Amino acid sequence: MIVPYQYRADALFEWIERVNGPIWGDALDAGTGAHSLSWMATLPTRSLTAVTVEDWRLGELPTIAPSARIVRGEWTDPALLHGEAWDQVLIDYVIGAIDGHAPYFQYDYLERLRPHCRGAVYLVGLEPPPRDGSLLDQVCRTRDACILLAGHRMYREYPSALVQRWMERAGMRVRDMKVFPNRVGARFVNGQLDVAKRKLPLFADRGLAEAMGRQIEQLRAAALAPGEVTWGADYVIAADVR
Ligand SMILES: C[S@@+](CC[C@H](N)C(=O)[O-])C[C@H]1O[C@@H](n2cnc3c(N)ncnc32)[C@H](O)[C@@H]1O
Repeated sequence: MIVPYQYRADALFEWIERVNGPIWGDALDAGTGAHSLSWMATLPTRSLTAVTVEDWRLGELPTIAPSARIVRGEWTDPALLHGEAWDQVLIDYVIGAIDGHAPYFQYDYLERLRPHCRGAVYLVGLEPPPRDGSLLDQVCRTRDACILLAGHRMYREYPSALVQRWMERAGMRVRDMKVFPNRVGARFVNGQLDVAKRKLPLFADRGLAEAMGRQIEQLRAAALAPGEVTWGADYVIAADVR
């Protein structure tokens, strides 16, 4: 039996709930996933629409929010949700993910979304990982190297200050924002290095793949040793459309 994904309390979503207040109307999850949809399903929205371009999510999402309208679509398609607008639009870790689906479209994405917004916009993002030479920095760089050597595309994160300027340029008036420093430990290290490891069979050079596999395990042991540390940050930007 498949157990539906259960919402896990999230400080970023709690902050959005405080900023928004208790009144929710028609809401859009503009880049959905189990976590954001399970949170939005707890809100007293009039309607809930959720968009993804990834087929693999389509089995799980309706089990999380049975009354939501789940739309499989690509935001580069001008016909996607043409003529529709929402009172609250959530953009949850979408900016960083776009490069993997529609390269370079992140620079036009907020303008593309603007006609669909008629109230509040909440944008959640990850500050680019600190390039500080730390073991966690090495973990991220090793992950990215493996993704590239496998011939795949990486996520690309953008600083909150830049994203705020993009929002203003798109006609979204920023009214509040908060940075949440990340506590990073075993779950993060193992998650990133497991992504790296899954890419090894796709390397063209077997010798390089084997050497990288050894490097990944050495790095895993070293990066797990310090335990949980504060490293990197998430952010939430709240905006209104003009
Ligand atoms: C990293 S996931 C977001 C995480 C999600 N909010 C959660 O809580 O799990 C990025 C989402 O944006 C969607 N996405 C990225 N680029 C897209 C595009 N060009 N058009 C439509 N959806 C896109 C992905 O399909 C995915 O649903």
